[in-house]
Amino acid sequence: MALPRTFIEWDDRFSIKVEDIDYQHQELVNIMNRLYQAIVDRTAQSEGPKILDDLKIYTIAHFSVEESLMRIFGYEDYEVHKEQHRQLVEELQEVMLRVEAGEHHINSDLLIYLRKWLVNHIMHTDVKLGRFLIEQGIGKNKPWYKRIFS
Ligand SMILES: [Fe+2]
Repeated sequence: MALPRTFIEWDDRFSIKVEDIDYQHQELVNIMNRLYQAIVDRTAQSEGPKILDDLKIYTIAHFSVEESLMRIFGYEDYEVHKEQHRQLVEELQEVMLRVEAGEHHINSDLLIYLRKWLVNHIMHTDVKLGRFLIEQGIGKNKPWYKRIFS
């Protein structure tokens, strides 16, 4: 049986209709697909930790972009959303520690866990932020930085 080319196929259901944020979410999906590819290629034990580290670094950067936007535009659920980000980073760090300690292997179970970790947040929490940003006049073809600086 041929394995699918990617683990997570970007889907319009994941779109929050704010181009910059969608782009960053796609990058997170791409990093997870790199991890999938490493599992398929049987290089996950050597390359996986670096990919997980990339995922962590990109996640932290991406969350700080979202948090900046929430503050700039006075989002009322800022504290709740920010707390979710903190928990997500903590969960990822715990996974990484378990991998490092040899308690968790980089395998399909881990990928399924990470997919849920990301997709649940996008589809339940970021979608609400997207609606709010669109109300503020930010959205497809209207990058937030143009709105701020013009
Ligand atoms: Fe978020």
